[in-house]
Amino acid sequence: MSGMTPLTESRSRHDGHPSQRALEVRCVTGSAVAAVLHDIARLRAVVLQAWPDLHDGDASAERARLEPCARAWRSIAVLVMDGDQIVGAALGLPLEDDHGAIRQAFDLAGRDAATAFVLAGSVLLPAYRGRQLGHRFFSERENHARSLGGFETTVFASTERDDIDPRRPPFGRSNEAFWRRRGYTRSLALPLGPPAGPESGEFPPARQVAWTRPLERGY
Ligand SMILES: CC(C)(COP(=O)(O)OP(=O)(O)OC[C@H]1O[C@@H](n2cnc3c(N)ncnc32)[C@H](O)[C@@H]1OP(=O)(O)O)[C@@H](O)C(=O)NCCC(=O)NCCS
Repeated sequence: MSGMTPLTESRSRHDGHPSQRALEVRCVTGSAVAAVLHDIARLRAVVLQAWPDLHDGDASAERARLEPCARAWRSIAVLVMDGDQIVGAALGLPLEDDHGAIRQAFDLAGRDAATAFVLAGSVLLPAYRGRQLGHRFFSERENHARSLGGFETTVFASTERDDIDPRRPPFGRSNEAFWRRRGYTRSLALPLGPPAGPESGEFPPARQVAWTRPLERGY
């Protein structure tokens, strides 16, 4: 029998695949967010080229969108690390420190920006999905907002596109059911208008929709 490899020692052809690897979730806050902004912007530039965001892959534009998170002392970045590589990231900051469409909608609606904490996007490379990290992104940011105190609502913006848009993937998966399970509802009282950035006039225009959830309800 010597010289034979026992079956129990055989290696799976999936060994080394991202879905098999141990990942670390790391949270950085406030001024420490600046140090990871460049890597997060590059990751977003890759992931958000997909439907429905259809960003143009420009990392410097992504970085500019994230700058408020680097300046806000109460911001958070939740990072998914595969070794020393950032393979997923989600950001959050007080709405008071943000000056984008959500802030404008709050101001126009006469709502107090100091009561809201913004979830400023989450991205995870496709090979790492389906491991509950999307849930973790929400929980870490909601817990951070709760621990800061003074916030009544968490809010984020999603990009929506027309059903008849020919770029819609045939088997695409929407995040809506996931967001609803997390307690979020579409807030039509906070109209956000079109997303920032260039859009091709050839296709139906995209729109941004605000989703909100009262923070005091635990998950
Ligand atoms: C959003 C994102 C970060 C979530 O990551 P994820 O690994 O899929 O998250 P989870 O494993 O926690 O799954 C979250 C939910 O997604 C759904 N989901 C996960 N994998 C799915 C699949 N293969 N098919 C259909 N739905 C799936 C499930 O509803 C799941 O919720 P449940 O566990 O209560 O059933 C990731 O999909 C992503 O980067 N998407 C592209 C960017 C994006 O859309 N970002 C959000 C707006 S900025």
